[in-house]
Amino acid sequence: MIGVYDSGFGGLTVLRHLVDALPARDFLYLGDSGRAPYGGRDVDTLLDFAEQCVEHLFDAGCRLVVVACHTVSCVALRHLQQRYCAPGSGRRVLGVTIPAAEAAVRVTRGRIGVLATHRTTASRTLVAELAKLGHYDVVQRAAPLLAPLVEEGWEDTDIARAACARYLDDLRGCESIILGCTHYPLLRAALEAATDARLLDPGPEVAARLVDWLARHPGFDDAGSGRVVAHCTGDVGAFRAHGSRFFGAPLPDLRHVVEAQSALAALVVERAPEGQVVRPSSPPPKG
Ligand code: DGL
Repeated sequence: MIGVYDSGFGGLTVLRHLVDALPARDFLYLGDSGRAPYGGRDVDTLLDFAEQCVEHLFDAGCRLVVVACHTVSCVALRHLQQRYCAPGSGRRVLGVTIPAAEAAVRVTRGRIGVLATHRTTASRTLVAELAKLGHYDVVQRAAPLLAPLVEEGWEDTDIARAACARYLDDLRGCESIILGCTHYPLLRAALEAATDARLLDPGPEVAARLVDWLARHPGFDDAGSGRVVAHCTGDVGAFRAHGSRFFGAPLPDLRHVVEAQSALAALVVERAPEGQVVRPSSPPPKG
């Protein structure tokens, strides 16, 4: 069973590609919808949420977790890999950032735009991955209004079209634009109306990379029965109602999970760091 983790509904746009590409595999999707959106959250909170969520998927029996959320993938992927995936652990955590960068570089000679959440753009992780591939002509735009508009089901409204046009104004001159947030594929029509740039949904590339990874790691995840189960931390009725818009089909098996025995502490950060953030003194993981 392959775990797929996102801040909420959005990762279902990635899950649909994974299920299409691997119809015989079993998937457990975790949407942290009770605490979404993640895009404006501070780094430490994201690391806490990400640890809880991947531990939930590991505890449920997944050995392989795909972090579908761009915000988590850009900020916390390395932390998750170092914490949970030591050699011999038999666990892996994969992200969406490198597939997104590679897909963009493959089809773009000119400027690449990154449209994403505030935390994703602040991390500059996609910019760094594009630079590793030799592509330096990159411009980013944070679009904090777009994910909430999609969650509201307003992707086909004048408000959504106006917001897309306003954000894309800052990405004029781009040949391609990476849709660096799991919600944005639902805004394709509104975005296309506002730009001539090629809009790149990383979802199909993430699926292709997962197929390739499984082929190179035979036996890591067994062929299943094509079962898709979803867990969410937020309102189950809302998740069921909105989730099918993102997944493109009804969610057959949906369960509610809640946070317990956690704590909040005051934190003062002068300036948020860029790039991946690995906690220096994490206690050893469970199990
Ligand atoms: N899943 C998040 C991402 O892809 C988008 C929504 C959020 O801000 O939580 O970055």
